[in-house]
Amino acid sequence: MLSWDEFDKDDDANAPQAAGTATATASALDKLDSAGDAAAHEAREVSANDSAAVARAKAALNSLDIAEGLAELEGSAARVKVDEKRMINCRADLNQLVPFKYDWAWQKYLDGCANHWMPQEVNMTADIALWKSPEGLTDDERRIVMRNLGFFSTADSLVANNLALAVYRLITNPECRQYILRQAFEEAIHTHAYQYCIESLGMDEGEIFNMYHEIPSVAKKAAWGLKYTRAISDPQFNTGTPETDKELLRNLIAYYCVLEGIFFYCGFTQILSMGRRNKMTGVAEQFQYILRDESMHLNFGIDVINQIKIENPHLWDAELKEEATQMILQGTQLEIEYARDTMPRGVLGMNAAMMEDYLKFIANRRLSQIGLKEEYPGTSNPFPWMSEIMDLKKEKNFFETRVIEYQTGGALSWD
Ligand SMILES: [Fe+2]
Ligand SMILES: [Fe+2]
Repeated sequence: MLSWDEFDKDDDANAPQAAGTATATASALDKLDSAGDAAAHEAREVSANDSAAVARAKAALNSLDIAEGLAELEGSAARVKVDEKRMINCRADLNQLVPFKYDWAWQKYLDGCANHWMPQEVNMTADIALWKSPEGLTDDERRIVMRNLGFFSTADSLVANNLALAVYRLITNPECRQYILRQAFEEAIHTHAYQYCIESLGMDEGEIFNMYHEIPSVAKKAAWGLKYTRAISDPQFNTGTPETDKELLRNLIAYYCVLEGIFFYCGFTQILSMGRRNKMTGVAEQFQYILRDESMHLNFGIDVINQIKIENPHLWDAELKEEATQMILQGTQLEIEYARDTMPRGVLGMNAAMMEDYLKFIANRRLSQIGLKEEYPGTSNPFPWMSEIMDLKKEKNFFETRVIEYQTGGALSWD
């Protein structure tokens, strides 16, 4: 295998000679530059073979002003210095990915790419047979599958739209934008996965996709999230004042900590519990891949929120802390109501009371992750097997095992 260290060593040993070579190389490059420039110029000349349309296209380019064209870009035109980079309100050129400042964002982009998966790769045959068999599932189990496909089939679109139409524009560093683009694609894969499940099982697509208008426990969660997109998705909205910067932070807390950090957890737990009991294993496998992606989205969001706080400590005042706490508690309450609605009776070895404990445990975690006081003292995790999948501390181990299994075509196991 090639080692670049050896090349470095050679350079060191021949340093004086290398300096001379460098000068020669520079003048050779200058010659290439002027030859290249002249050749490009020549290509613009109208030849006898050119049609009138081609001649017009060439002539139109003669009035292209490079300085004017690039002036419309965000950020300054200078080479980027790392200490000029900022999470929000940055003036450094946003089209230059390096030098890196936010390595954690770039690393998550790489990890996200390493986890790539597609819904069609999951075998749905057993699910189709079970769903179509009259004795395959109980009414309570069917309700859980329907409600969760109803909620998630539109929730991921809400998240994707918020990212693409609002957050992307306002986060002003290219490492985070690179991850946001990856996340946006993953949200598209998630919506695809739900559509794939709905189609495979032969469900009424209109009923499932419109559930966020028709079923109150689903509608409330969607409406709660949309409230926080309204202001910042206005094309006229810009950050730059304490009020508008706080508006963006509120949106990030709503989407990363509550939508992706709380609203997904009752459904994930229910469907994964089904998979562990060998029921709807294809749907459950899709949800397991989605949860793996979502736990990374959540961790990225927490890092973004905390980094904005570090760079703008004046924003994180008593008023915003109280608001953020209230948002997380409201989200927890809505998810507790969703748990009651989806599980009016005990099912799959769990019930709404256990889910309530679990959601309070999750809420404490979300609060402490962004530096707020836990509000549900003495809660514990009734579903420790869920932590196996998404516990932050086990993230490294998680990627080392599951991803390699996926990349070599191995199936997920439910033990
Ligand atoms: Fe998602
Ligand atoms: Fe997500």
